[in-house]
Amino acid sequence: PTIYRKDYAAPTYFVDTVEMGFDLEPELTRVATRITMQRNPAAAGKDIELYGEELDLVQLRLNGKTLTARDYRVQGGILRIPGAPAKVTLDIETTTNPQRNTSLMGLYVSNGNFFTQCEAEGFRKITYFPDRPDVMGKYTVMLRADKKKYPVLLSNGNLIEEGNLPDGRHYAKWEDPFKKPSYLFALVAGKLVCQEEKYKLQSGREVLLQVWVEDGNLDKTQHAMDSLKNSIRWDEERFGLELDLDRFMIVAVGDFNMGAMENKGLNIFNTKFVLANPRIATDVDYANIEAVVGHEYFHNWTGNRVTCRDWFQLSLKEGLTVFRDQEFSADMIGSDSGRAVKRIDDVRVLRQAQFPEDAGPMAHPVRPDSFVEINNFYTVTVYEKGAEVVRMYQTLLGRDGFRKGMDLYFKRHDGQAVTCDDFRAAMADANKRDLKQFERWYSQSGTPRVAASVRYDAKAKTLELTLEQSCPSTPGQKKKLPFHIPVAVGLLDSKGKDMALSLSGEKTAKSPQTTRVLELTQAKQTFKFTDVAEKPVPSILRGFSAPVVLEYEYSDAELAFLMAHDSDAFNRWEAGQRLATRRLLNLTIAVQAARQSGHVVSVESVLGNLQQDDALTNALRTTLNDTSLDPAFRELVLTLPSETMIAEQMEVIDPQAIHAARQFLRRTLAKDLSADLLAAYEANQNKGAYSPDATASGKRALKNVVLSYLAELDDEQAHTLAQQQCDNANNMTDRLAALAALTNSRAEGKGKALEAFYTEFEQEALVIDKWFTLQATARTADVETVRALAQHPAFTLKNPNRARSLIFSFCNGNPSAFHALDGSGYTFWAEQVIALNGSNPQVAARLARSMDRWRKYSTTLQEKMRAALRQVADTPNLSRDVAEVITKSLSN
Ligand code: ARG
Ligand code: ZN
Repeated sequence: PTIYRKDYAAPTYFVDTVEMGFDLEPELTRVATRITMQRNPAAAGKDIELYGEELDLVQLRLNGKTLTARDYRVQGGILRIPGAPAKVTLDIETTTNPQRNTSLMGLYVSNGNFFTQCEAEGFRKITYFPDRPDVMGKYTVMLRADKKKYPVLLSNGNLIEEGNLPDGRHYAKWEDPFKKPSYLFALVAGKLVCQEEKYKLQSGREVLLQVWVEDGNLDKTQHAMDSLKNSIRWDEERFGLELDLDRFMIVAVGDFNMGAMENKGLNIFNTKFVLANPRIATDVDYANIEAVVGHEYFHNWTGNRVTCRDWFQLSLKEGLTVFRDQEFSADMIGSDSGRAVKRIDDVRVLRQAQFPEDAGPMAHPVRPDSFVEINNFYTVTVYEKGAEVVRMYQTLLGRDGFRKGMDLYFKRHDGQAVTCDDFRAAMADANKRDLKQFERWYSQSGTPRVAASVRYDAKAKTLELTLEQSCPSTPGQKKKLPFHIPVAVGLLDSKGKDMALSLSGEKTAKSPQTTRVLELTQAKQTFKFTDVAEKPVPSILRGFSAPVVLEYEYSDAELAFLMAHDSDAFNRWEAGQRLATRRLLNLTIAVQAARQSGHVVSVESVLGNLQQDDALTNALRTTLNDTSLDPAFRELVLTLPSETMIAEQMEVIDPQAIHAARQFLRRTLAKDLSADLLAAYEANQNKGAYSPDATASGKRALKNVVLSYLAELDDEQAHTLAQQQCDNANNMTDRLAALAALTNSRAEGKGKALEAFYTEFEQEALVIDKWFTLQATARTADVETVRALAQHPAFTLKNPNRARSLIFSFCNGNPSAFHALDGSGYTFWAEQVIALNGSNPQVAARLARSMDRWRKYSTTLQEKMRAALRQVADTPNLSRDVAEVITKSLSN
């Protein structure tokens, strides 16, 4: 059944306290829960409503009296008790089987240890409870378990008591001083060890920080610990928010559906976002760990102290917290160019993943209006587009204005469960601004387009910039109203310098700005700049000031000019991407034409005859050789738009043609720039000990993208370089880049290198994941390669990281092979979705989304995709998760 936002009703009873006792056994865990509740005065006469799933109810007592089957009803996962008094104490005893819980929601076992995941609706798999975020209680938790098997017993808050019990068992009692919704409950029990540290807050108060891992991993916790301390300090400095607990724990678990979880005082993490040392983790892993540790820590205020009224408001905490972690990562790099690199990275993710979502069958507003399964709405729209929406407040109100809004938000809502409207109201009121129209960013789905055009009047020395917005229809939303869009604009003179900007009708400012944030609120608006001495080149949407598609007819020359001169690093990069996209689309069409003309010629010979693109080649050469630019930035410029990005630009996606075109361009660039590439390879070697800092990792990124270009030449020199780097690397970043270069080449040593890698890292699950991904995304890989790898003894669908490393990597990361013309990729996909549906619906539903864009392919491929979708749809016992995704795919 579909759940609608408009149907929100306040809870019938509010919870005061929750006392829980766990007797932890893998196959039969007993849970005794005592809840004290009070009727919501506004809901007189209504039933008590408790949610429960896959539970065995042993006993239920209300105010001391045992209830029999006649006293309550259980229907569709809800237990209703009618006629209860206003003040109630409920005693509930239930049992579950954590060992058999492969969904990884609720209480489950991973490698012999107990863990929980309760967001969004996992708590109801632990006990019957009013499991909704607007019901908050104060928790006391008693854990009992075998002392040898489960020496460590953790839950939220503070440890208030521990001791021994008969029969080799022991207990620990935890108390969380803050009231919280049930989705923030957590427990961990097992054989774990920790790195710990006392940390002094700015106030002088000392707190205990711990990072818990399995034995043997203590050499991989330092970076997470450092990231945690940096996060604590950053939130004090940037937002004046202090850690409110005496103890803060992070626990790593190998089986986890998502990235991590912000349970109060007891964050539980996917190992992927905790464990790092130079031997096993890449620079990207290091950066991700910092971001995710920050993200979960920042939730302590944005999510936990102020939480969501209902799950439609998910972006209230997620969009805001992603924005906060993005700003944190940027501040950790510190430099302006580093900030720009981070911004470009974030926008790349948005365009690669969120724009397609916004254009597909699962498109939904940042604050959805309905869902079938909430787990399907932990999306790039709610998270990443949500973060862009929060960023726009800061762009419109300024950093100080944004901070004022945050302060008012906490002043008004600390300890409450609130809505996205409450957040917007705090921003508006603190800044005395009308942000009514801004609400449409929450309610309308789809990616807006902004078409820009300019008219320069040489006589009057004015420039008119006309902006026209529109937004394509999305499922359930045909017509859209204008958004409130901040458009940051600069104008470059013929020397490439920023002009001082004044807008018509304004008094001339004392120190005129060179970037102006224009507020586009109507369908079409014209902004007039005065005192524009010469015809400028406009730099529009600087810093990607809004999550829109900007349409402007730049000439190749203008793009090359912006690439060379724009003071806004984002738009400098953007100009290169536009130029490359233009070129790649033309090449793709050329490949298709060659194919259609029936000429039995190789793509290479057809494309080889095309005129060389000097604008792009020269611009890339200039950037590559410009040592005044950050190496990390140069790497981004040299990276061509992905095959997925190009696909999204096409009316009908042709994965093989796109692949051929992009590979051709990479080879051509490698040839034309070979000398420059070699020089850059040498100039960016890292000497000395490994460090994941931005400067060192930027140099490695540049060097390794250069190596990947050189590898396109597939000659002996390239093979030697890759082999040498593979043999001599003192860190995983360089090792993996070299191994990828070898794997994608015809080098003799590639089989051996892959084997050696496996043997060396057999005990490191996270590295074996990389080994699978590398092969699933290799250029030579096809569905048979992946089928063979799925038979490897190290492969299992049961572990989400492993499933993602092979299956998801192939279906989402190797488009030309996945979309093989015989449809074999789709058959494989259907098999895997069906297999996962049985064990882990959440992960299955994620994989189901690989087919989102099926209507954009040729009719031949569409038919095969539809057949695969139907096959999944017709599977018996389809989970709500998978059913929702497939149904929406087939009907939108
Ligand atoms: N709140 C978590 C985070 O963003 C994500 C948890 C999502 N879990 C889930 N089962 N949907 O950090
Ligand atoms: Zn989050």
